[in-house]
Amino acid sequence: MYETYSQILDELKEKSHFRDLKDYEGKDEKYIYFKGKKLLNLSSNNYLNFADNKEITKEFLDSAGDKYSFGSASARLLTGTLPVYKELEEMLSALYEKEKTLLYNSGYHANVGISSALCQKGDVIFSDKLNHASIIDGMQLSQGKFFRYPHNDMQCLETLLERERKNFNNAFIITESVFSMDGDIAPLKKIIELKKKYNCVMIIDEAHAFGVFGDKGLGVAETLGIINEVDLIVGTFGKAIGSMGAFVTGSKTLIDFLINKSRSFIFSTAIPPINVAFTKWIIENKLPLVSNKRQKMLSLGKKFESQSHIIPVVVGENQATVDLCDVLFHNGYFTLPIRPPTVPAGTSRIRISLTCEIEEHELNKLKELINESKLAK
Ligand SMILES: Cc1ncc(COP(=O)(O)O)c(C=O)c1O
Repeated sequence: MYETYSQILDELKEKSHFRDLKDYEGKDEKYIYFKGKKLLNLSSNNYLNFADNKEITKEFLDSAGDKYSFGSASARLLTGTLPVYKELEEMLSALYEKEKTLLYNSGYHANVGISSALCQKGDVIFSDKLNHASIIDGMQLSQGKFFRYPHNDMQCLETLLERERKNFNNAFIITESVFSMDGDIAPLKKIIELKKKYNCVMIIDEAHAFGVFGDKGLGVAETLGIINEVDLIVGTFGKAIGSMGAFVTGSKTLIDFLINKSRSFIFSTAIPPINVAFTKWIIENKLPLVSNKRQKMLSLGKKFESQSHIIPVVVGENQATVDLCDVLFHNGYFTLPIRPPTVPAGTSRIRISLTCEIEEHELNKLKELINESKLAK
């Protein structure tokens, strides 16, 4: 009975696609400990060093005392809503100047739950081709139709809108702001122009930008001054904030609709109160203190010709990507090969993600090794 699965696994191994969980020995700040080595961690979303940070954990626990439990024991609509959830939601609504905010257990829950609820029969979604798997899964679960436009290609998006918009009731345009695997930024102002022209709801996923971009760390929409023009903004707490969970902020009508119809919100136990309290504490107390570090990290990204702190090193073949990771490992760098289906076939890559304590000189050797690998091709 399991033969078909074994066969598929063997095929994955043949194509260097097989994934396995690794036995890391530990992590602290910018380092990871693996196979007896201390390595610079270039594969973490702990962008601001708030996770794996003993001092911060201690400071939070000292201030929180025994006020928050480790389990919510219930979904939010049952008995899973304590004051701290509402406080965080209200804090985010105030920061974004939106009517209402809803917490989700993760960015995956949020993206799956939002489009599957909002896009109903007769509706349509236009989604960037490189949007995260959670956005794709949400669209697939929805009752509507969806089109995926080529990455950041506004001409194709407009052609699609021109051709298709009239055939549907509600229409949505969904994009990431900073793309998770490419580190580039969506042309959000142009998308706003199109959403207005074609009467669409615009949703942006700021998973990798929340905490990093904007004076207050609210994301690329803040940097561009367009928060009030975007219908729904999604952000996650598991990356720059160093916690767990996600939020969506927007109009009262849409958020109330999600509370009533978003299945990944309704049918899941709420994240632990202690996590919600930690997220709120970080946003209130720590995020305002790291502006300089965030700027420094983004400037370092620019030196690698990236628009953000995420630097894609596209190698192409799976095995060659795995080999480059090995070379980097032996030189003190921890990176991971990113392969299909996470990225399109033929674009396997190393995704370098910077974190704010990494210094430029620590990356000199990395640059050399990457250049050498390009020359060897
Ligand atoms: C763009 C994007 N959205 C959503 C998610 C999912 O967020 P979470 O890890 O909180 O489930 C990710 C995670 O990698 C992501 O990259």
